[in-house]
Parts: sequence; structure tokens; C-alpha cells
Amino acid sequence: MASLIETVQVPEPLTRRKAWKKLQTHHRRIQDAHLRDLFADDPQRGERMTAEAAGIFLDYSKNRITDETVNLLMQLAEESGLRSRIDAMFRGDKINVTEKRAVLHVALRAPRGTSIMVDGQDVIPDVHAVLDKMTDFSNRVRSGEWKGATGKRIRNVINVGIGGSDLGPVMAYEALRHYSDRAMTFRFVSNVDGTDLVEAVRDLDPAETLFIISSKTFTTLETMTNAHSARKWSLAGMNGDEGSVAKHFVAVSTNAADVAKFGIDTANMFGFWDWVGGRYSMDSAIGLSTMLAVGPENFRAMLDGFHQMDEHFRTAPFEQNLPVLMGLLSIWYNDFFGAQTVAVLPYEQYLKRFPAYLQQLTMESNGKHVTLDGAEVTYATGPVYWGEPGTNGQHSFYQLIHQGTRLIPCDFIAFNQPLNPLERHHDLLLANVFAQTEALAFGKTPEQVKAEGTPDWLVPHRVFAGNRPTNTLLADRLTPENLGKLVALYEHSVFTQGAIWNINSFDQWGVELGKALAQRIVPELESETEPALSHDSSTNNLIRRYRKGKE
Ligand code: F6P
Repeated sequence: MASLIETVQVPEPLTRRKAWKKLQTHHRRIQDAHLRDLFADDPQRGERMTAEAAGIFLDYSKNRITDETVNLLMQLAEESGLRSRIDAMFRGDKINVTEKRAVLHVALRAPRGTSIMVDGQDVIPDVHAVLDKMTDFSNRVRSGEWKGATGKRIRNVINVGIGGSDLGPVMAYEALRHYSDRAMTFRFVSNVDGTDLVEAVRDLDPAETLFIISSKTFTTLETMTNAHSARKWSLAGMNGDEGSVAKHFVAVSTNAADVAKFGIDTANMFGFWDWVGGRYSMDSAIGLSTMLAVGPENFRAMLDGFHQMDEHFRTAPFEQNLPVLMGLLSIWYNDFFGAQTVAVLPYEQYLKRFPAYLQQLTMESNGKHVTLDGAEVTYATGPVYWGEPGTNGQHSFYQLIHQGTRLIPCDFIAFNQPLNPLERHHDLLLANVFAQTEALAFGKTPEQVKAEGTPDWLVPHRVFAGNRPTNTLLADRLTPENLGKLVALYEHSVFTQGAIWNINSFDQWGVELGKALAQRIVPELESETEPALSHDSSTNNLIRRYRKGKE
């Protein structure tokens, strides 16, 4: 299979592309334009600057853009070869050039009967074979047919994993908790800090507890340390019966050899493939805990949602393409306005872990300093993503978004229907969504503040400059299907940005150095005798203080 550089048109360096230069000139012209005027001059703006796909509605009218901005961004996408890059990903080309791998999370949700080739082999039958195996296993656990070693039914499921092997599962469990089997308990252990595991198991009966050891590589320090401690805890509750491991431990991995070495029967291993990146894996077997929680039907509905958004991304014209629009708007603020962060604000309590999930998806993907061919970039790449569910953030950090000195584009996410209707709560929640985006865009002028009878000295403190950009995403309700669409929307927005920046959104070399240094420091912390240290003076000193302090 040819590499990306061979199969797609390689664009001019970003800052030399015609559209980039035009955007720079255009930005100088409109950077001070105020949303108040943009709306006043164009009464249809709020209806026109919208797009809808697969039941997800995007209002992007409250952005600091004009029609010309949108046209130029579209031109930038064309000149950057976005179309051919999308095709290359869906075709299974090895677009992860530094790891020489295809990038095919879209294959995880492709319907049975379709076909995507990797190295001459159709991967879709394998995807569905694993889904069928997960379905069978989930049905057996959920029905009580699968029993623990002492014959007790499994009531607790603990996913042990980190990064993509944790953030997706925990986010999806929280997001779909409404659809979950409430007779079962689900917990997620990720941190190598022992507290995470100890607190997760402290009130559980080992005889009723199933661990899913989720690790693509099955070598990750945190996960393997937690897995071994979980095994000890489980065995201690089973009178040391080694045979019980087969009933209380299953694995999700690409590494069958190490799974077997750990003592897990590979019959109870759920596989995936090197063409699934960790942060793009929540819809692979890594989602086993999700399927156990919400059942196979809901899991498949989620996959269908993913697939609908994939098809939209693959086929829709760029100007109506939700991920393309959102990706390009992100470029606009990041590279032209110099905005350093993006706030993601879900007004849906069940999405409370969505911002944390997005942090890995966006920042591990696009936090890169070189282009695909290794040249240092001369422009800013991935912004910092952060956020909290509304309305909580309003009573915390929104002050800075409204009146601080930094420009922070925000994505508001909301649903028309609540999953837990309770008197006026949902109207109050949604009123806050609309009020916040209105306040951020239009602010409050000194004249308006004065007209309210505010004394002159207080006026500046009560002025809202406005002109703070927002996207609003609206869908009917948080269903498994809509969750799939939402995640795929952000996955493809990340792809769009990476394609424009000409970086590899699918490797993560930046996590390696810290891992390697930690491996070197571990024996220095554990050594019985004083080790000879050869770090810098700060690190040496910290290690010595810790060694003294831990006694
Ligand atoms: O921290 C880097 C990373 O490789 C992530 O990309 C990945 O999601 C995580 O570690 C966990 O890796 P694994 O699933 O192999 O344990």
C-alpha cells in the first residue's frame, strides 16, 4: 500500500497557499468587525449560516466571519487537498506515515456487507466477527448465564485501561448511563496511583466482579500494573484459585501473546487492529464495557450513528459538511486570531466526561510541530481543548470568557429533549444555552449599562464587549445513535484540521520521552542503597528528597 505522500496531491506549504494569503488579508480587514453589526446588516444570517446532517444541527452564525471568510476557508480546504485526503483515509491508504499504518476507525462502523481493503484483505468481515463475539459475550454476562468462578452472577464490571483505552469507555458509559443496566455496577480504573484501583474495588465482592483489561499494546505501564494488582485482589477473594482468572478477567487487545502470558484465556480476548488508533477506538472492542452496560442493540445503534456521520463527511460538499465547517472555523481562530484554546460546553449532564474525552482526541492528534515530511511548522497547530458541562461552568470560568482578555471560541452542545424530564429544568437549561451564546456575541455596551442607571464609576466593570464566537450544536436527544454522530463529528473535524496543517494526526511520539525517563527513574526510587544519580540538579534533588521523605 502506498503512503499518503505518494497517493495524495501534496499541497504547497500552508503559508504559501493562495487561500492562506487571501485569508491573511481578509483577516486584517474584518478582524474588528463586530457580531452586532454583522447581524444587524444581515437579518437572515442566523438562518443562513447553519448546516444540518443526520439530525445534528450546527448554527455557526455567531462566528466572526462573513460569506467571504467561508468561501476563502473552502478554497483553503480545496488547495490543501482535503478531498483527496478524505478519500485516502476511507480507501485504507497508510496515511499514518510515521507508523506506516492505515487509519480506519471508519471501518469499525461500516455495515456488514461493505468492504474496505488493508494490505489486500477486506477488514469488514473481521470487524463484524469481533462485534458478534462481543454481542454473544455481553448477552451471556447480562443475562447471568456467564457466572463467576464460585457460581455467582457478575454484577460489577471494571474496565482497566488508560488514554484511549479508558477515556472513550468512561465517556460513553457516562453518556449512555440512562440506557444502562442499573442492576450492574461499572467502574473505570486508569491511573497508576493505587488509589484509583483501591477505591474502585473497596465495596465490591470479587466473586461478582469481572475485569476487562483494555490495552491495545498490553504493555502500558499503568494498565499492566493495575491489571496485576486487580488479579491479586481477585485471587485473594477466591482463595487463590488460579483457575478463577478465566471467569473474572477478559482482555481487549491487539497483542494475543502478552494476553496469554498474563493468564487470560485468548478465547476471552476481543481483538482489534493496528489500524485503529487508541483515541479512535471507543467503537472497537475497547467499547466492550459500553456494550455490557447498554446492551448490543444500543451499541450497534451508536455504530450506526458514527457511520451516518462518516458518510456525511465523505460525501457532503464542503460548504454543508459539518466536520469540515467546524474544522475550518477552528483553523480561522487558531491561526488568524491567535486563539489558543477552544471550550467545549455540553449542556447535558450525561456528557460530563465528553470534554475530557475530546482532550485526547484533539490534542494527542493535532499537538504536532512538524509536517508529514518532517519540516518544522511555521504556524500554530492544535489548540488546547477544555470544558465542563453547563450550567456549572457559568458559575466558574465563564467570567473570563465574557470579560477576560483572551479570545476563547466555544462549542455549545444541547438537546431538544431531556432524558430526565423534571418540571421546568430542561427549559431553564436550554434558556441558559441560548442566553450564553447571545451574551457572548452581542455583549452589553456602556450606553446600555448607563441606561440601566449604573453609576459612572461602575460602568466599565459592567460592560460586556461581546464579539465572542460560538458554535451551537443541537440534536433531538442524547441517544446512542446521536452520541456516535457527535463523536464522529469531532473525529473528522480533527482530521480536517490536521489535513490543512499537513501534519500526522495519527501518531503520538510526544508521549514517549516521559515514559522512557520514568522507566529509568523507577529503580532509582526503589533501590535499597543510595543510587548514583546523573540527572540535572533539580531532578537529582527531587529524587533524593522523595527517597528521604518516603521512609
Ligand atoms: O499515552 C499514549 C497512548 O499510547 C495512547 O495513545 C493510548 O490511547 C494509550 O497510551 C493507551 O495505550 P494502550 O491501549 O496500548 O494501553
